[in-house]
Amino acid sequence: MLKTKGLEGVVATTSSVSSIVDDMLTYRGFSIDDLAQFADFEEIIYLLWHNKLPKLEQLTEFRNELNVNASLPEELIAQLKLFPTKNIHPMAVLRTCVSTLALYDEEADETSDQANYRKAIRLQAKIPAIIAAYARICEGKEPIPPISSLSFAANFLYMLNGAIPNSKSEEAFNKALVLHADHELNASTFTGRVCVATLSDMYSGITAAIGALKGPLHGGANERVMKMLAEIDEIDYIEPYLKRAFINKEKIMGFGHRVYKNGDPRAKHLREMSRQLAEVTGEDKWYNMSIMMEEIIRSEKGLPPNVDFYSASVYHCLGIKHNLFTPIFAVSRVSGWIAHILEQYENNRLIRPRAEYIGPKHLEYIPIAER
Ligand code: ACO
Repeated sequence: MLKTKGLEGVVATTSSVSSIVDDMLTYRGFSIDDLAQFADFEEIIYLLWHNKLPKLEQLTEFRNELNVNASLPEELIAQLKLFPTKNIHPMAVLRTCVSTLALYDEEADETSDQANYRKAIRLQAKIPAIIAAYARICEGKEPIPPISSLSFAANFLYMLNGAIPNSKSEEAFNKALVLHADHELNASTFTGRVCVATLSDMYSGITAAIGALKGPLHGGANERVMKMLAEIDEIDYIEPYLKRAFINKEKIMGFGHRVYKNGDPRAKHLREMSRQLAEVTGEDKWYNMSIMMEEIIRSEKGLPPNVDFYSASVYHCLGIKHNLFTPIFAVSRVSGWIAHILEQYENNRLIRPRAEYIGPKHLEYIPIAER
């Protein structure tokens, strides 16, 4: 019965949100190469949810909706201040806070399309606010609200740092958000869809998806890439580090992919962004190390980098703390999760596969006194 471990190659649903064909990624039929070059992240969210690009007035209204919904319940901010700040991963905080948000949303269990759309806006707007607020609280600072005239990308960096970012940083961060927005039936999206296919609510679906994204084989890889680069620390130590890792059959974070065997189409954009940011900041060490690692791993193992590899040096050059790399992935990917959740609700059937039983059979029950 069991054909593939990890459901490799299994087509589990139909979807019109995004597609991967011949190593090309498209959102709603648009190539990510074009979207990464031209689009604002807000346009991408709109595209994913409405299945069309917005006109200027629609985009302005949509931006406004996101901005006015970015405020957090006071109770949640009070709770954030009570969370431990040492050794707690912001992904765990985000997972808890998204679940908590449902408690302050009177529409949490409303099932109409309109209520689901309003929840979508609230989740997309509040997730960056939660991450920025917690990061500031960890540094002993007060959370700050967004500025309505700023773009989504600029607002996140503003809420995090308390300063309006320069145009280079805004542009780079916007592009990173565009590139991470959706990716067909990746593990976290599948998790979210499985959850809401029981007709559970959107907050539950997004909370479940955050839990799946957190793992190092998925979104958690970007932070680990930076940890690895920092551990290696010098270009001269790359070869011995990789030699040891190959001998020990260790997984190198940021390399390999379940679907792309010839290369992740997002990686080239992030590599170029990493190069440009290294030039702007003058901190080219991480980019140079990354390039050398890519060369060796490609030639020794035939493994190309995935989306997480160069995003690490990109976020580092943007001055973002390393433990926020995976939460930032969620800031973007929540747009795709929501598009998939809405699609799942539209044409729902419970997702319930089978397992091939390989345990013992026909055992005889022995009363406890006789065991
Ligand atoms: N480092 C070293 N070897 C690797 C790597 C890697 N990063 N990725 C795959 N391989 C090797 C495996 O050891 C295996 O070799 P074997 O057949 O000799 O045992 C072979 O390639 C196939 O690997 P699997 O783990 O079976 O491939 P799978 O499709 O299950 O896994 C995954 C894909 C999880 C992404 C894997 O490549 C990996 O662990 N990469 C590192 C973690 C990572 O970067 N995750 C982010 C992925 S992108 C994203 O989710 C946003």
